[in-house]
Amino acid sequence: MSRISFLNGYFINHDQAMIHIEDRGMQFADGIYEVILFHNNRLIDNQWHLERLFRSLNEISIQLPYSHEQITTACLDLFKQNILVNGSVYLQITRGNATRNQLIPKGITPTVIMTVSSVKHFTENELDAGISAITMEDIRWQRCDIKSIGLLASSLCKQKAADLGYAEAIFVRKDKITECTFSNLFIVDSIDNLITKPLDNFILSGITRRRVIELAKQLNIKIIEEEIDTTQLLAAKEVFSTSTTLLIRPITSVNGQLIGNGKCGKITWQLIHAYQNFLNILED
Ligand code: PDD
Repeated sequence: MSRISFLNGYFINHDQAMIHIEDRGMQFADGIYEVILFHNNRLIDNQWHLERLFRSLNEISIQLPYSHEQITTACLDLFKQNILVNGSVYLQITRGNATRNQLIPKGITPTVIMTVSSVKHFTENELDAGISAITMEDIRWQRCDIKSIGLLASSLCKQKAADLGYAEAIFVRKDKITECTFSNLFIVDSIDNLITKPLDNFILSGITRRRVIELAKQLNIKIIEEEIDTTQLLAAKEVFSTSTTLLIRPITSVNGQLIGNGKCGKITWQLIHAYQNFLNILED
């Protein structure tokens, strides 16, 4: 079966889905994206994703000619056409095509793309082992709250981490932790408080972050939103990252130093199980 993608209102063969050479997404990274998890035929936290998508579009003044409902219907159709019951959808909206001009042209039609993929599930052993991370200067722009398709800085840093033998880079701005290259960051301190950086323009308002905070509250885990410095990070009992595709990912060493005993910690496991439970509760 061939892969089907969505392009500007049409479902077409993935290999034939083409955009114009003067699309402003290509020339200026003038666009926004979203990634939504699809589990057992349901879009997870879809409303929160759509609210963030429309907020990001609003921040860069792109008017999308689709409603929340139309986007949802298109996503669900796309999974159906690709015969997938689990996976993720990548949604990208650029301002559209126009002759290259540094000023933003008015009245052009946005380019809307959707592709679906399968999602990797980690085994208990993989989760327990966790991943290694290295701290790195946050060289991104100052509007990380916008889910911009301009991801070169993040991609370069993730590659730099990989070249140095680490699975992830944790961004640091003025000695404060912001987030990881493509995920948010949480730590657990010595008295089991769960700590994450408050939302501002230096991080993305992650949907998984928001869900994990909700789950932590239900589990009576004390959640604190405050700045984290490098010393606190290295002294943490547990560290993990959150994102739509990787969910809760334990980080068991930072800069070559073990976090806790170098295995996924107790609070992180509690949250992983609570998240798995949350997904299963949603089953029909
Ligand atoms: N990345 N921070 C950054 C910089 C991200 O790119 C992401 C998501 C997150 C987590 O957000 P959420 O929980 O809503 O997925 C935080 C996506 C998954 C990606 O680029 O593939």
